[in-house]
Amino acid sequence: ATQYLSDWRPFPFEILETRLEFRLDPNATRVRSQIDFRRLEQGDLVLDGVGLKTLSLAINGQALDLSLIREAEGKLIVPAVSLPDSFTFEAEVQIDPEANTALEGLYLSGGIFCTQCEAEGFRHITWYPDRPDVMAPFTVTVHSDMPVLLSNGNPVSVESGKAVWQDPWKKPAYLFALVAGDLRAIPDSFTTMSGKHVDLNVWVRPGDEPRAGYAMESLIRSMKWDEEAYGREYDLDVFNIVAVDDFNMGAMENKGLNIFNSKLVLATAETATDGDYERIEGVIGHEYFHNWTGNRITCRDWFQLCLKEGLTVFRDQQFTSDMRSAAVKRIHDVQTLRARQFREDAGPLSHPPRPDHYQEINNFYTATVYEKGAEVIGMLKRLIGDDQYRKALDLYFDRHDGQACTIEDWIKVFEDATCRDLTQFKRWYTDAGTPRLSMTEKWADGALTLDFAQHTAATPGQPDKPARVIPVALGLIGPNGDEVLPTTVLEMTEGQQSFRFDGLGARPVVSLLRGFSAPVTVAREVTADEQALLLAHDTDPYARWQAGHDLALDGLIARSNGDEGGAEFIRAIGGVLDDAEADPAFAALCLALPGDEEIATTIAASGTVPDPDAIHAARRALTLDIAKAHSDALSRLYDAMAPRGPYQPNADGSGRRSLRLACLAYLSRLDNAGRAAALFAEAENMTERQGALEQLIAAGRDQQALAAFEAEFRDNRLVMDKWFMVQPLRAASDQAVARATELAKRADFDWKNPNRFRALIAGLTSNHAGFHAADGSGYDFLADWLMRLDPVNPQTTARTCSAFETITRYDAGRQAKAKAALQRIAAMPGLSRNTSEMVTRILAAA
Ligand code: ARG
Ligand code: ZN
Repeated sequence: ATQYLSDWRPFPFEILETRLEFRLDPNATRVRSQIDFRRLEQGDLVLDGVGLKTLSLAINGQALDLSLIREAEGKLIVPAVSLPDSFTFEAEVQIDPEANTALEGLYLSGGIFCTQCEAEGFRHITWYPDRPDVMAPFTVTVHSDMPVLLSNGNPVSVESGKAVWQDPWKKPAYLFALVAGDLRAIPDSFTTMSGKHVDLNVWVRPGDEPRAGYAMESLIRSMKWDEEAYGREYDLDVFNIVAVDDFNMGAMENKGLNIFNSKLVLATAETATDGDYERIEGVIGHEYFHNWTGNRITCRDWFQLCLKEGLTVFRDQQFTSDMRSAAVKRIHDVQTLRARQFREDAGPLSHPPRPDHYQEINNFYTATVYEKGAEVIGMLKRLIGDDQYRKALDLYFDRHDGQACTIEDWIKVFEDATCRDLTQFKRWYTDAGTPRLSMTEKWADGALTLDFAQHTAATPGQPDKPARVIPVALGLIGPNGDEVLPTTVLEMTEGQQSFRFDGLGARPVVSLLRGFSAPVTVAREVTADEQALLLAHDTDPYARWQAGHDLALDGLIARSNGDEGGAEFIRAIGGVLDDAEADPAFAALCLALPGDEEIATTIAASGTVPDPDAIHAARRALTLDIAKAHSDALSRLYDAMAPRGPYQPNADGSGRRSLRLACLAYLSRLDNAGRAAALFAEAENMTERQGALEQLIAAGRDQQALAAFEAEFRDNRLVMDKWFMVQPLRAASDQAVARATELAKRADFDWKNPNRFRALIAGLTSNHAGFHAADGSGYDFLADWLMRLDPVNPQTTARTCSAFETITRYDAGRQAKAKAALQRIAAMPGLSRNTSEMVTRILAAA
């Protein structure tokens, strides 16, 4: 059944306190609950529960009839007439954590009891109003012989076999957490800005302690940063983080007890890449920042998910910019947005940051809700300025602390703090689709006139797209490379609008959409010479990078059409190589060619059918030409970027390694991966090790290296995930499916573990020409595995369906094969609601 935003009604009761008592057992855990309700308005008591074995129900000690349970709907409905104004509801239920392979509710991961309750997992634990606008203080008692027993809030008493935890901050059930297991802590502490002492722990399995230090350092940096940047202080005596191996997503911000996918906690130089370290720091920050943006102020209903996620992503992006290189971070974020969100927005799964209907909320933890949700806040900040932004956020925390809010509340805070009308701006939250911003130039008598037009194509269910507010940051670069106009923000509010710049001596080049000031695609007339000028001289690092990137993209598209192309990029990259040592990370970004997927997206956006094989061949050919043209500079830089001193996972160190690996990718085409083989043998860190291995696979000389890697890391699940991922990812496109098929037969392809499943499957689906093999073998392979996983883990199955979201761009043959694969999934008896919704939405467009 579809849920609609417009159907939201307040819950007719408040909860004064929730008391839970767990007797843990792998197959028969008992959960006793006592919930103190008080009536706010007329209405039945409706509680949620799924898969519970209900042993008893009572109100004020009076047993309730179990026939009040409506099994099929997952509801327990107690009629209003039988309820006093205040009462205690009690239940005892039994659940089976070991059988819980969906990893939603209470489950076992490698012998550790743990929970995942967002979005609607708590109803798998006991009867409860499982909705985010019902908030309560919790007291939790855990009985278990596990050595470590954790829940939310502060410990009241911890003895062997029993622990009591009390969380004084009222919270919705989705923030509940419980962990019990044989765990070891990395302990530390933090003193907050008002002088409060907080005990910090990162809990891991025995033996993993040496790999948890970076997570702890990241936590301490996050706590400090949130005080300095947002004035937000932590509010409990303890903060615990637990790492588990089986987890559907990245991590979860449960109050005082964050639970993490172990890949976002555990790292050493030998086992984790620079990218892993950066993600660990960013996600530790993200979950910590949720304490204020998500927990103290939560969402009224799940349609408002981007209220907490967009804001918290925006905050974690700011944190990473401050900890590392702001320019590099911005470019990374734009790359991710384009690769995931623009792609989503251009296909059948397009939805606004605040959707107004869904079947399964877990299908809406998307790039649009998270990343576009963050971009929208970035636009708001750019429009009103940093001071007004801070003022608005202070008002938000002040006004809404302890509440469950909506996007309307959020917008109102900005309107009140800035005296601006944000009615039009709100469209960014309610309207789906990526606007296309086009610009044409007129030059006469020292005046440059820029004519802008915006257009957003129809998306599913939203045919009409009124104009949006678009902040267009731009600068002007004179023909000699000097900046003649520093960054200026134009506020576009109409469908078409012109802006004029007078008194210019010579015709400048427009540096457009600086800092990627709005999540739009750009269409403009620009010559290769102008792009080369921007790449050489723009003062805005994002715009500089974008100019080079567009130059490369133009060349690649020309080549994939069988024309000449790329000569200007090859020439321009010479300048980048000359300056590379001044900013290695930036140079590495400029050297990386657009991926096959991005080329296909760009071709499709221009109304042409992309040919995966032609695109792949064009990319390989341009890579080879660049390597030949610049072999000396590349080889000099490769040597210059060799490690100096011990591994440091910071911006400097990772910048040097990223440049070294960017050079290696080109040089491997000239030396048949000879340097890569040497690097694989001698590298002491995983960043270089994995980088070298990827080149060896691409060159088809990977056997020895793969065997050595496996022999060294066979007992390390996270490292073996990389081994499973890089093979289908880097294999030649005509071998990718065969390779994935072979790997899937291995005993250690533990597909019930989401990390392992994703490693292999996403490795293949990210190999563009490999996955979109013309014979449909990639589609069939994926469909087979989705059908196998769905009964076990619907959430991970449904997320993986998005690999099919681009099929309508391709030729009729590929489309027919993908469609047949999707129809096979759709026809599977007992298909989960999660997967069914995804497949139905994709098929609706096919
Ligand atoms: N709130 C978590 C985060 O963004 C994500 C958890 C979502 N989990 C899920 N099963 N939908 O940090
Ligand atoms: Zn989040």
